Amino acid sequence: MKTEYDMGIIGLGTMGRNLLLNIADHGFSAIGLDQDQNKVNLVGHEPKTIASFGATHDLEIFVSQLRKPRAVLLLVPAGEPLDRVLDEITPLLVPGDLVIDAGNSHFKDTDGREKNLAKKGICFFGMGVSGGEAGARKGPSLMPGGDATAYERVRPIFEAIAAKVDGKPCVTYLGPRSSGHYVKMVHNGIEYGLMQLIAETYYLMKSALHLSDDECHAVYREWNSSELNSYLLEITSKIFLKEDEKTHKRLIDVILDVAKQKGTGMWTCQNAMELQVPVPTLDAAVAMRDFSTFDTDRKQANTSLIGPAFNPSFKRAELINQLKNAYYGSSIMTYAQGMGLLQKASTFYQYDLNLEAIARIWRGGCIIRAGVLEEIASAFHRMPELTNLLLDPHLGGEVGKRENDLRNIVQIAASFGFPIPAMMASLSYYDAYRSSWLPANLIQAQRDYFGAHTYERIDQNGSFHSDWDQP
Ligand code: 6PG
Repeated sequence: MKTEYDMGIIGLGTMGRNLLLNIADHGFSAIGLDQDQNKVNLVGHEPKTIASFGATHDLEIFVSQLRKPRAVLLLVPAGEPLDRVLDEITPLLVPGDLVIDAGNSHFKDTDGREKNLAKKGICFFGMGVSGGEAGARKGPSLMPGGDATAYERVRPIFEAIAAKVDGKPCVTYLGPRSSGHYVKMVHNGIEYGLMQLIAETYYLMKSALHLSDDECHAVYREWNSSELNSYLLEITSKIFLKEDEKTHKRLIDVILDVAKQKGTGMWTCQNAMELQVPVPTLDAAVAMRDFSTFDTDRKQANTSLIGPAFNPSFKRAELINQLKNAYYGSSIMTYAQGMGLLQKASTFYQYDLNLEAIARIWRGGCIIRAGVLEEIASAFHRMPELTNLLLDPHLGGEVGKRENDLRNIVQIAASFGFPIPAMMASLSYYDAYRSSWLPANLIQAQRDYFGAHTYERIDQNGSFHSDWDQP
């Protein structure tokens, strides 16, 4: 058995085991470590591939069998468990070794960990990994950030295991420090937005049109075979066919309408507020996950709060087509909000991000992969400093072609009391963004009135204050 492995993986849960096997499939040797002997055994039972791989529960054996300078990939839960593993392994490492956190850690924690390990000469990387179990095994999208020279050592492995689109690997060096985890956080914020938008189309198909699960399946399948094609639409279409083994009903209909979250969507929105970048579709998506948990209140309010009467006269095919366009337009605005945040963060945190490259590595392997990312990459190719995708003539035009349908859908939802806040927020985003005038002059006046916060004028530079009680 080879005793010098190219890479070590700590944490042999589904993601860790699948990444280890993926690495071995591509001719690199890898050893895994887990405290849980069952997980170690699971790796041992895997059929052998072209490169050697193994697993142990002994940290010292694990470290001693890694080729120097060492490369260790961590797939342990973010937060306290990750810090515990770092405390255990750091004394066994030497300057020049590289540790890569492949979990969903908060980017500010990544900056702190990088600084701490740098004191010992150890390189620390934060790397976003997207694609779930299947991605880890067959090709994820990887978002690494950290020291550029250290990255060169692991680049061949990551390029080999990442998903490929047009023969190009869905991984690229993103930038210094926490840039990898930052980009993954925004990826997840976009993921939340897209999932909520799709859920809202489902709400209308079910509540306004009373479509059956088979019909929902067919609609999403058709959308996925059009310019809307995306991984999330593909899995959504398949979800409607899955049968529940217990009740033999469709599984979707026995799943509780309460959605959990691990926090990355919320972090995106919190950070967007810090950086003062509007991401209202993402905010609405996080709020709706929160709303879903108020299920007892919702049931009570359903009987106590008044809503409009439901007397529809929809033409089914027409409404489905409007929904399709409303979804596509809103989804472009969701990417626009995420990319706008990345553009601001790139300067603010001095990440020097390449947005075209980011759009390209999101074309395959990750949860938000979609045909439109090709067009997004092209938009940043044409104009790398683009602050908002809506200013790209092509993408802005694609949204413009659909704004009327989005408006119709929002009107229908408002008239009949259907909650579709992510679509409503997307439409307001569109309208706010194209407003040459916003009533912020009144906000300025109010602030100056009650707090003497001063205001700026349209005809003169400087800050002004008025005595508002004098007419
Ligand atoms: C991915 C996913 C992955 C994870 C989400 C789930 O890119 O593969 O984003 O990272 O499934 O973090 O997030 P929530 O539990 O918050 O929905």
